Amino acid sequence: MEDFDFENRIVAPQYVNNVDDSEFSLRPRALSEYIGQEQVKENLSIYIEAARARREPIDHVLLYGPPGLGKTTLAGIIAREMGVNIRITSGPAIKIPGDLVALLTGLEEGDVLFIDEIHRLPSTVEEVLYPAMEDNAIDFVFGKGAAARSIRLDVKPFTLIGATTRSGQLTAPLRDRFGVLLRLELYKVEELAEIVTRSAGILGIEIESDGAIEIASRSRGTPRIANRLLKRVRDIAQVRYDGVITEQVARDALDRFGIDELGLDEFDRKMLSAIINNYGGGPVGLDTLAAALGEEAVTVEDVYEPYLMQIGFLMRTARGRCVTPAAYNHLNIPVPGQQPIFGD
Ligand code: ADE
Repeated sequence: MEDFDFENRIVAPQYVNNVDDSEFSLRPRALSEYIGQEQVKENLSIYIEAARARREPIDHVLLYGPPGLGKTTLAGIIAREMGVNIRITSGPAIKIPGDLVALLTGLEEGDVLFIDEIHRLPSTVEEVLYPAMEDNAIDFVFGKGAAARSIRLDVKPFTLIGATTRSGQLTAPLRDRFGVLLRLELYKVEELAEIVTRSAGILGIEIESDGAIEIASRSRGTPRIANRLLKRVRDIAQVRYDGVITEQVARDALDRFGIDELGLDEFDRKMLSAIINNYGGGPVGLDTLAAALGEEAVTVEDVYEPYLMQIGFLMRTARGRCVTPAAYNHLNIPVPGQQPIFGD
């Protein structure tokens, strides 16, 4: 053990203590550590290598896909692999053009500016972004009417990385200014199991491979959920068992949290039952459904629906949302016009 570097040990107590406060220590820091999203990784590694060889910043990148899939993580990796700094902000945090001007003029050459929820930028701010993205310049207008003045400020060449849950939410002029559009997909169970195993290693949690698969298969294709479940399952493993996460421990813990074998929680089941019981299985319009559930339509659309569609329980049709027979079977509700199926 002489060579072991206790100072920089990844499970050193102070490091572990920080873990619940931030996800940062679980985030991969290089593309080679990043699990899944193979297509995105392959494209990115080419763009990074090419830009580095030309000694230029990488073109502006738009990352889109459901929440929790690693958009911020990827932005951090891009900056690190390009050897530049990253400034992280979000659409709603930039309220007036001056906020963005301050950010842009503070960037060093080649830096990455990451704007999460970029679809929520105010339109006045968006207009400042266009010339900055295209010409490395800002036209800053102050004053009103005949007294209005405009000054042009230079901005050092930089890379904007925007993240959004859907590229369709962006205005066309903004979307068109990104040179690279990358769509993140929900993860496969095997990929999530690998992520859970990696995270368990970092957190010093003992887990068996079947335990990791059990957590992965109930994580709705989302690493953020997988990592959160891992920490909560660890609590149960520690208090009710001997600390090791086996398949049975994971099952017991996840059942206690009300998360079923497919990863559906209370809300998913409530939503499917509402469509079945109140709207005859659909079609029902998104706004009507969201109002019935007391949720915002965008949350239903971006957070709940992607996974339910991925597992074939929900369809979006021109006339509204419809539940499929598979969802009826999962909820043990007889499919209208079909003989009841007993069991799962
Ligand atoms: N932690 C969260 N997301 C991850 C990913 N895609 N690869 C590795 N670790 C992760």
